[in-house]
Amino acid sequence: MAQLIDGKLISQQIKDELKEEVAQFKAEGIDICLAVIQVGSDPASSVYVRNKKKACAYIGVESRSYELPEETSEEELIKLVEELNADESVNGILVQLPVPDHIDEDKIIRTISPNKDVDGFHPVSVGRLWIGEKGFLSCTPAGIIQLLKRSNISIEGKECVIIGRSNIVGKPMAALLLRENGTVTVAHSRTKDLKEVAKRADILIVAIGKERFITSEYIKEGAVVIDVGMHRDEANHLCGDVDFADVEPHSSAITPVPGGVGPMTIAMLMNNCVETVRK
Ligand code: GUN
Repeated sequence: MAQLIDGKLISQQIKDELKEEVAQFKAEGIDICLAVIQVGSDPASSVYVRNKKKACAYIGVESRSYELPEETSEEELIKLVEELNADESVNGILVQLPVPDHIDEDKIIRTISPNKDVDGFHPVSVGRLWIGEKGFLSCTPAGIIQLLKRSNISIEGKECVIIGRSNIVGKPMAALLLRENGTVTVAHSRTKDLKEVAKRADILIVAIGKERFITSEYIKEGAVVIDVGMHRDEANHLCGDVDFADVEPHSSAITPVPGGVGPMTIAMLMNNCVETVRK
């Protein structure tokens, strides 16, 4: 039987640790405030934003909400972000993505001060990550490192294969695994012989966005399998990029969907909020 990597439990442990840390900061007179901006009312975004605010309340971070109408112009959004950059009572700024099509997402990300970039999306944060400098880490990949470490799965020297090369998951994941001394391969939609490449992995991280795409044919016996995907299948069940029932018997450890990587992202966002006040 594979070890089930319990993201719900591990994220709860992290949030409880952060809650204590936040209480200590409060006792020293240091409050933490996260500004959360949502443009429009995409239902999925609304759920994410609500969960982020709930997590803030749980650990004792103030969340300041900005719910802007769909028609908000790029200039208006930039002006708000610049005001929040200058506001000393705001520690972190999060603009929920995607923003509407008439707003240039990259421009918004670059407007957020790198000192308040709790998503870790700003090019300065990305650069710091790749040169091994302290900075805000992209939340999902940072959460995956925590899942592995807290499940006593060592990364050093291991063959790590990431499937997916997005700026939010695949690329920062590669940087973080390298930092932990893994041997890293990034595979993607144009990779030849994907099955053979995936089968090299001691640790396989899947972020391709295709429902139950990864079957046991992609798995080396005993591999650790981390599933970043989240889909609702025809039967209305949540599932990942990995065909769990098929892969689980061949893995030594595996994340479920839901309850694996998902809850870790918000826990690491909370960690980045606390990071804004750490020395
Ligand atoms: N939309 C989907 N995931 C994310 C995330 O991690 N941060 C932000 N800001 N928007 C998202």
